[in-house]
Amino acid sequence: MRLLIIGDLGGQLVAASRIANNSGAKVLHVADIESGLKATRGSKQIDIVFIDVNQDIQKLVSGLVNERINIPVIACGIKNDADAAVRAIKAGAKEYLPLPPQEELIAAIFASICASDESGTLIATSAAMKKVIAIADQIANSEASILITGESGTGKEVIAKYIHMKSKRASCDLIAVNCAAIPENLLESELFGHEKGSFTGAAERRIGKFEAANGSTILLDEISEMDLKLQAKLLRVIQEKEVVRIGSNNPIKLECRLIATSNRDLISYVKDGNFREDLFYRLNVINIELPPLRERKDDIEQLSNYFVDKYAKLNAIPKKSISEEAMQKLMDYNWPGNVREIENCIHRALLLSNSEEISANDIILIGESRLSKANTHRTLEQIEREAIANTIDNCTGDELKASMVLGISVRTLRAKLKQYKLG
Ligand SMILES: Nc1ncnc2c1ncn2[C@@H]1O[C@H](COP(=O)(O)OP(=O)(O)OP(=O)(O)O)[C@@H](O)[C@H]1O
Ligand SMILES: [Mg+2]
Repeated sequence: MRLLIIGDLGGQLVAASRIANNSGAKVLHVADIESGLKATRGSKQIDIVFIDVNQDIQKLVSGLVNERINIPVIACGIKNDADAAVRAIKAGAKEYLPLPPQEELIAAIFASICASDESGTLIATSAAMKKVIAIADQIANSEASILITGESGTGKEVIAKYIHMKSKRASCDLIAVNCAAIPENLLESELFGHEKGSFTGAAERRIGKFEAANGSTILLDEISEMDLKLQAKLLRVIQEKEVVRIGSNNPIKLECRLIATSNRDLISYVKDGNFREDLFYRLNVINIELPPLRERKDDIEQLSNYFVDKYAKLNAIPKKSISEEAMQKLMDYNWPGNVREIENCIHRALLLSNSEEISANDIILIGESRLSKANTHRTLEQIEREAIANTIDNCTGDELKASMVLGISVRTLRAKLKQYKLG
């Protein structure tokens, strides 16, 4: 994770940088928006920007939009300045971060951007996961493209990072692109970069993710969501091992390892004409299928203990043990949201528990608590409403993830949230 800070954050620059460093981010600092924009075009891929609320945020945001650069902007200002916060959000900032900076807030902002754990911890106690690790170890050092599949929340990104860290490219940064999170019209420039003047607003040359991943690994997350036109371009990049920036005629030679993930059945996408067959075969040289958590319950105990430790540390509260009864409850549940769901469940339990031990009552299983209500005479609408509410909860409010779990588009999901007043 790379953080760009623009301005001196009202004297809190050092504090913010230290917290960001502690959360695993590399920090780059510039004084003004011009230098900030320059940094976002370069090969050091910026994941997030903190900008002093007194800078011209509108100018930064429109600069990024014009250049089709998709990076969240967080405005930072001295506490309780509600006017400044409103102005910043209106100008296009994603969030307002009050200063002096707080550790938990920064951690939460980072967590919402980079879904998975930066520590790279991978729990694998069950035989099923040990088998997955054995395959990952075996192929980590090869050049082969890898397709990692599995239900949402099973740990596809975690495995992708594990493979990268075990490969001979480990000393370079893994470059990750979430194909579902980036709007269609921005993804092409994000992947391949662009030349100055290649479209209105392209004020300068920009290096894309593929170039940034030269010599390293590129992770194309949720690749099923890439549109067919871009799939064709991607296929060419893979075949020719070269990339052409938008607006250029000069191919640039590349040497990078490709890992893609999908929680959709890509073969049925191919059958339906939504995914190119030739690209599928290029990506699927090696397939790693992550089993759902309900099929590897031997992982539950260690995962639960790991997440207790993780969130105790993150929230700066003492570690707790998990009672036998609580553990039994965790073992008996079927975890439709997989590891992500148990992670959120344990985090909640830790915060809810009033004693040194997490009890069964602290374990709130969202799916169960709602679905166990009287099942008779429910209309289809009620069932749909519950399914959507549960999924949104399991995905901690992340609409994109929830839409994928539910198998509907984000737009449909938003319409239904509105319809069922689930805002
Ligand atoms: N084996 C594991 N050990 C420790 N943590 C894990 C493991 N598997 C998953 N996690 C954690 O669970 C969460 C979800 O994992 P990850 O993001 O890799 O899932 P995913 O399969 O990519 O999900 P999605 O399809 O929704 O993108 C992350 O916070 C990750 O750190
Ligand atoms: Mg993922």
